[in-house]
This record gives sequence, C-alpha cells and structure tokens, in this order.
Amino acid sequence: MGNFEHNRESWNELTSLHIKSDFYDLKSFKKGNTSLNHIELEEIGEVKGKKLLHLQCHFGMDTLSFARLGADVTGIDISDESIKVAAELSAELSLRAKFYRSNVYEIDKVLDERFDIIYTSYGAINWLNDLDKWAKIINRFLKPGGIFYMVEFHPFIYTLNEELQINENYFKTKQIETIVDRTYTENSKITKKNLKNVEWHHSLSEVLNSLIENGLEIKLFNEFPFQVYNCFKNMIEIEKGKWVFEKYKDKIPYMFSVKAIKK
Ligand SMILES: C[S@@+](CC[C@H](N)C(=O)[O-])C[C@H]1O[C@@H](n2cnc3c(N)ncnc32)[C@H](O)[C@@H]1O
Repeated sequence: MGNFEHNRESWNELTSLHIKSDFYDLKSFKKGNTSLNHIELEEIGEVKGKKLLHLQCHFGMDTLSFARLGADVTGIDISDESIKVAAELSAELSLRAKFYRSNVYEIDKVLDERFDIIYTSYGAINWLNDLDKWAKIINRFLKPGGIFYMVEFHPFIYTLNEELQINENYFKTKQIETIVDRTYTENSKITKKNLKNVEWHHSLSEVLNSLIENGLEIKLFNEFPFQVYNCFKNMIEIEKGKWVFEKYKDKIPYMFSVKAIKK
C-alpha cells in the first residue's frame, strides 16, 4: 500500500471517532455554532460571495462554516468517510457545498475551475510530502488576485517528543511513520489494528519559499505563542481558547498563519 493509501485508511477510521467527540462538538455546530477560530476569521477577510476551496476539509465543519458566512464552498479530502459525512452534513443543514474525495495532489481529476480563496488549516501540510507541488496546485486553482490563507501548527512543535524535549530534526529529513493507536480527541482509542500514518514535517522557510517560488506574494505572516486546540499532551488553558505546554507556557511558537495573493 502506498503512503497516501495508508493515510486514507487511517483518516477513514479517525473520522468515525471525531464525529462523536466533544473535541469537534458536532452538536453545537449543527445548532449554528461556527467551527472557525478567531484567528482565521479575522485574518482571512471577507468571504461572502467568494468561491472558496478548502483543501483537506476533513468532515466539512470549517467548509460549511464558511458557507454560513456566505461563501460558495468546495471541500476536498482524501478520506472517503470524511467526504461522506461532509456531504451528509451539507444536506442535513441545507448548506450548499460541493465535496470531493481526492488526494490534494490529484484534484485536477475532480476540479476544473478557479477560486477566489483557497484555505487550509491545523494539521494539514504534515500529510503532504512535496510542498513545491502543493504550491503549484494552489497557484493553478486560484484566480489572478485570489487569496491563499493557511493557519497551521508551528513546525517547532514537531521537534518535541512526549517529554517535551527537542528530539526531532526541525529541517526536512525523512518521512515519519507511526502506528496509529489513538487520535487527538478525548475519545481517542482506536481498536482497528495495523493502521499506519505517514507524515512529513516542513520548516517555515520550506512553506514560505514554496509559495513565493510559485507565484504567490506573501501579505501576512504571523506566529502565535499559544494553540487554539487542546490537541497535544500536557497542555493547560491560560485563557479561553489559548492552550500552552505547562513546561514552556508562551515562550515558544505554537501556530503560524500565512496570507498570500496570486500575482
Ligand atoms: C487534521 S485534519 C485537517 C484539520 C481540519 N482543520 C479539521 O480538523 O477539520 C487532516 C485532514 O487531511 C486529510 N488528508 C490527509 N492527507 C491528504 C491528502 N494527501 N490529500 C487530501 N486530504 C488529505 C485527512 O483525511 C484529514 O481529513
């Protein structure tokens, strides 16, 4: 089985846990709450009336939150289960959206249009092995003057081991293979055996250079001394919605965001 097929299989399994988790809180979302955080809501700008493509949309809560704000949304994800749930949510909540099951690297097989905004977030690029190819796809699917916006976990976080010591290389080395026996939500235990994840870590310069070298002009770049999710071990909430490692508090970067315009 290829790397992406392993990830497809594990994300199918994780999705069924995530939709039942307090972490994703699908119940509140169905009642009308947004799943988007203040960072992306403030930084992305006006989405009303814009054609928005969400890369790696998981089961569609963020995509549909943008639909509630008036965007004309399309979501793609490699997981069959995620796309199935996303399409069901769209129908149940009468929120117009298109969802396609596709690897990011193969979206030209399912899409042939251009977008005003391309969005991706929180735990997405670590599933991609080639950011140059990723940025070429972003360029290909954006209209001239269109906006690419991402908010992601800071690559520094991925250097830490479970004891929070620097253990991994910050700069790109090899792919990281993990046996999947839990996920990051509170109902985390996975019973299915032999699931494997394959991930790739990318330094900030790799992310920014891939965009710059592929026709995107960086307009905003931020780093944040907190995490919006309690998704790693040993985190404490210092303010509502601001999580940090107790050991390092706000001394280290936890997330970053980039907004770029296609020239
Ligand atoms: C952590 S989730 C994205 C986070 C998102 N903000 C959320 O939680 O709703 C990562 C998503 O990337 C998808 N994914 C992983 N590799 C992919 C690939 N090569 N192409 C498309 N989607 C991929 C997974 O199926 C999963 O839904």
